[in-house]
Amino acid sequence: MKKFYSNSEENTFLLAKEYAQGIKSGDVILLEGTLGAGKSIFARGLLAGLDVDSNVPSPTFTLVNEYKGKYTIYHFDFYRLNDPFELYEIGFEDYIYSDGVSLIEWAEKGGDLIPTNSIKVTIKITSDNEREIVIQ
Ligand SMILES: Nc1ncnc2c1ncn2[C@@H]1O[C@H](COP(=O)(O)OP(=O)(O)OP(=O)(O)O)[C@@H](O)[C@H]1O
Ligand SMILES: [Mg+2]
Repeated sequence: MKKFYSNSEENTFLLAKEYAQGIKSGDVILLEGTLGAGKSIFARGLLAGLDVDSNVPSPTFTLVNEYKGKYTIYHFDFYRLNDPFELYEIGFEDYIYSDGVSLIEWAEKGGDLIPTNSIKVTIKITSDNEREIVIQ
């Protein structure tokens, strides 16, 4: 387990960008934390660190966005997922058991389909601009 403290959006972005250097093909990274915790900022940092150029939009209205960088990266946002069963319809397992890298915001909503050996990033709001980030 690693614990980090961030005091700005930029700080969280850079921390994620640095952390991305250790990501390997096939990794599944769960991003957990309340609304506005910084999951999407962290995801953008990961994407930048995985050499995805372009201004990455937040995937709020689609379940998955695909990017090409050092690996193929699948960015999921389960915020609007009503039932884990919907994941079968998009072929979720084909993504997460591929040699790409999966980033999953609101992974808690994925239920039993989330692999137990995933890397979990939990972001906690400790004050307006401060976050406690635990990676395990
Ligand atoms: N230290 C910090 N790290 C990250 N974000 C911060 C920090 N301090 C303030 N913020 C602000 O918190 C917000 C985080 O937004 P972000 O979209 O990343 O959250 P989220 O966890 O993805 O939320 P949602 O569940 O709504 O998707 C941004 O407005 C950002 O500017
Ligand atoms: Mg988000």
